[in-house]
Amino acid sequence: MIRAGGLVAFPTETVYGLGGNALDVEAVARIFSAKERPHFDPLIVHAADAESALSFARDVPDIAIGLAAHFWPGPLTLLLPKKDAIPDLVTAGLPDVGLRVPDHPFALAMLREAGCPVAAPSANPFGRVSPTTAIHVMEQLGHRIDMVLDGGPCRVGIESTVLRLGPGRPSILRHGGVTQESLEAFLGPLESVTSPLAETVPQTSPGQLLQHYSPRTPLSILPTWDAALPEVKKLGGLAFQAPPCPERFDRLEVLSPTGDFVEATARFFAALRSLDASGVDLIVATPFPQVNLGRALNDRLFRAAAKAQYIDG
Ligand code: TXA
Ligand code: MG
Repeated sequence: MIRAGGLVAFPTETVYGLGGNALDVEAVARIFSAKERPHFDPLIVHAADAESALSFARDVPDIAIGLAAHFWPGPLTLLLPKKDAIPDLVTAGLPDVGLRVPDHPFALAMLREAGCPVAAPSANPFGRVSPTTAIHVMEQLGHRIDMVLDGGPCRVGIESTVLRLGPGRPSILRHGGVTQESLEAFLGPLESVTSPLAETVPQTSPGQLLQHYSPRTPLSILPTWDAALPEVKKLGGLAFQAPPCPERFDRLEVLSPTGDFVEATARFFAALRSLDASGVDLIVATPFPQVNLGRALNDRLFRAAAKAQYIDG
């Protein structure tokens, strides 16, 4: 299907991707149109191994080879200067291409079998909650794609970390499955890491749009669970660990009773979806501790709560 220019949703360790042949401009255009994604937001290119992924970069610094050896297959996307073979549409006209080797047997088998790099954004309509099961993909995009490979729920549950390598020190453009702490253990201190808690988010990566991952139900972030709860008919709660007085909620999703980031991350998008579908009038949440995967979770949470910053891309 990929070789024929079709669109195949497939599981990765992070979220489901919506894949097409990255070298086929028409297939890439179809991805944008299926997602209703604005053309200024570039796609990540996936390959079956580091050698093949890095073969699409013009200059590959030693640090990229080291990162690839250490973190791939895995939830890390490296931005490197693209070769001409990668269509401008894939990178939204930017000089760098995002490259990643996913850590999922289905994704790797598909990439090997396809014999081409696969451009794939998360398999959700633009701006909406990312899919972590094949059913999520079918519900949102089933009518617009050719096939879904069902690999069960995604292990990590949020997207890859997007890392820019220079000029200057490497910097994180999107927090994700590889933590800032583990990157810094490997690279030393990173430059000016973006904070989801900042008032305005700099748009060095087009995907840093303030509003993203949005449920249809309004979502509010409370400073702590001790804050006064808004008066609504039906209240939903999205909690890292069990909040005090769970009976105040008509519907409550506790991501990890023991406070385990890995468990909470794996459940985050599915919990947001299920609250959204539950018929509550408002979802409230509190920030995660701003360490480890908590940074990536806060990033998703704050964007999901944000009001639209622009109309229709
Ligand atoms: O885990 C993931 O990364 C998933 C799976 C399917 O691999 N993919 C994913 O793709 O999350 P998407 O398109 O939903 O998010 C890609 C992010 C966006 O924020 C985009 O702006 C950024 O990566 N990005 C991709 N290529 C870029 C580039 N050349 N320069 C700057 N940012 C880039
Ligand atoms: Mg996405």
